[in-house]
Amino acid sequence: MKRKTSWEKYFSQKIEYVNFALRKFLPKDNSTISKSMRYSVLAGGKRLRSVLLIFAAELFGGKFDDIIPAACAVEYFHTYSLIHDDLPAMDNDDFRRGIPTNHKKFGEAVAILCGDALLTESFNLITKVRSSEKNINLAIRILANCGGYKGMIFGQIEDVIESGKWNKKKRNTMMTKLKFIEIRKTAALIVGSLKIGAILSDADKKSLKALEVYGTNIGIAFQIVDDILDLYATNNRLLGKNGSDVKNEKLTAVSVYGEKKAEIKANEYIDKAKKALIIFGDKSTMLMHVADYIMYRLHL
Ligand code: IPE
Ligand code: IPE
Ligand code: MG
Ligand code: MG
Ligand code: MG
Repeated sequence: MKRKTSWEKYFSQKIEYVNFALRKFLPKDNSTISKSMRYSVLAGGKRLRSVLLIFAAELFGGKFDDIIPAACAVEYFHTYSLIHDDLPAMDNDDFRRGIPTNHKKFGEAVAILCGDALLTESFNLITKVRSSEKNINLAIRILANCGGYKGMIFGQIEDVIESGKWNKKKRNTMMTKLKFIEIRKTAALIVGSLKIGAILSDADKKSLKALEVYGTNIGIAFQIVDDILDLYATNNRLLGKNGSDVKNEKLTAVSVYGEKKAEIKANEYIDKAKKALIIFGDKSTMLMHVADYIMYRLHL
């Protein structure tokens, strides 16, 4: 087995802390809603958004214990988006995080309500952080905006509407639409996570702008890589889901650019993301590593 580098160890340690905190915050009773929430949240996942939130907070001297409820909040929010994304009315997927999707296990009605519960509870969790009232208010607004009808939901709606239709359109229109979708359905919550961590730790406006550029670019690259991996996705240890983009005739980086060009594009976005970190100097090493990790996933 390959030995972990020191940054990988740091990353895995943060993931362990997040998992520990998630277990603490999740309801423990035996009701169906509690069981279904635990089922999907604790099934695993890379914890990318929560770790980004923590790294962004640390950039401004934020303390792990103060912001951990917000890190869990973005994982709740993200898991809700996955549960709904997998529903028959959306991507109709049977596996997620290596186990049957929430609706396959509990039925559609419970899966919809489980998503609703995680979404609602994510806002409750944010209020548990230690920061000023002003910062907490801002953090709540960021989550609502990046995840709401102008953010992730807008991206998801366009993704659904374009399914099966995109190939009848001009190439330029497709490229513009694809970027519109990537920015909203995926990059928005990644940017939101970074900004929440930063704001709760009193970041200045210029730094927030730099994090927004970084987050948008890694977010687009992350979705492109996800689109490439979808081609090969089987419910295996690494991906834990089956590919469904071809079956669903999705507008993706692969359908627009082809696999090779999509990877080149993703690399370009990663380069842009890293440039945005220059203003932070050595302090942003962990965020630099995350950017590299996104491309590295293609070769695991
Ligand atoms: C999947 O996100 C949905 C996309 C935005 C591509 P992740 O690949 O981060 O899912 P988990 O949390 O690791 O399961
Ligand atoms: C989903 O994108 C993004 C969100 C859940 C918001 P995908 O549909 O490509 O994600 P996967 O491949 O199912 O994880
Ligand atoms: Mg989808
Ligand atoms: Mg999907
Ligand atoms: Mg996908």
